[in-house]
Amino acid sequence: MILSIESSCDDSAIAITEIATNKLLFHKKISQEIEHSVYGGVVPELAARLHAETLPKILEQAKPYFKDLKAVAVTSSPGLAVTLIEGVTMAKAIAIALDIPLIGVNHLIGHIYSLFIEKETLFPLTVLLVSGGHTQVMEVKSLHDITTVAKSMDDSFGESFDKVAKMMDLGYPGGPLIQALAKDGDRLKYNFTVPLHQSPQIAFSYSGLKNAVRLAVQEAGEDKELYKDIAASFEHIATKHITMKLKKYFKTHPPKCLAIVGGASANLYLRSQIEELLKPYKAELLLSELQYCSDNAAMIGRVAVDMYKEKMFSSLEALDICAKSKM
Ligand code: KG4
Ligand code: ZN
Repeated sequence: MILSIESSCDDSAIAITEIATNKLLFHKKISQEIEHSVYGGVVPELAARLHAETLPKILEQAKPYFKDLKAVAVTSSPGLAVTLIEGVTMAKAIAIALDIPLIGVNHLIGHIYSLFIEKETLFPLTVLLVSGGHTQVMEVKSLHDITTVAKSMDDSFGESFDKVAKMMDLGYPGGPLIQALAKDGDRLKYNFTVPLHQSPQIAFSYSGLKNAVRLAVQEAGEDKELYKDIAASFEHIATKHITMKLKKYFKTHPPKCLAIVGGASANLYLRSQIEELLKPYKAELLLSELQYCSDNAAMIGRVAVDMYKEKMFSSLEALDICAKSKM
């Protein structure tokens, strides 16, 4: 079995995965959403302190599996430096105490492997990763062959939902809150510009849209009814940006199988628009189970199973955290 730890942002999670069968034997996650909600976003130092409190509590519950552990895996990059260090330090302590190998897992590869929890891998895949930290398109041929073909130049898709929710004083995380508000709004009421719509570049940008929404919120003033239309129009344009860029990309790279992963892949409007986009290609759409879209340790454990089989271990001295993504 492998014990895996996730602490790259505001979720403390630990999982136990059986190597031979990919079976998830234990998974516990404690989210810090309520604690960060008053600030309208994640406060790194508060997140780190909460990880330091909760991770040992979850680990206590995983103790019955300790005698069967063959390795310990942990998210080491990318993420918030002060929170990654909490998981990595715990993983190193376990590796020393139980004398087992250490596996450092890339969080983005974790999101890709959220598709394969309790399953075999299925490659090749075109992957759209939409989370709080990332918006990118990748061609994935295997664990070792991942090419990023498009990424965001500034904010991410999920982050833009968080920021719009903050402008409206709705709380955090913004994704589900904006999605709920948008449900009763008019998607065409506000004619926000689709980001980079005139650029031939296949890339994403959300800072301009965010500022356009900020002006609309200011103009709406106390008229909260208008917030529904702003949310709906924002969700519409944020999604259209992705579908337009994917459509452009598909002209030269027609998809066979597209997966959407990451916390924001839970967005129903995005899912429905991408389903529509894929119809002419007769391409398959793969999604993770809803409970594994957002950050979790089960996806880290699933990557670790494949890394373990290939003896992709890290030495205690060499494994370090890296806040920035290298993908
Ligand atoms: O993958 P994740 O849990 O954490 C990161 O790796 O960043 O993604 C969290 C992000 C947050 O920005 C949250 O607002 C967004 O995913 N999110 C959504 C929805 N549910 C979560 N965004 C849009 N629509 C949703 N339904
Ligand atoms: Zn994530």
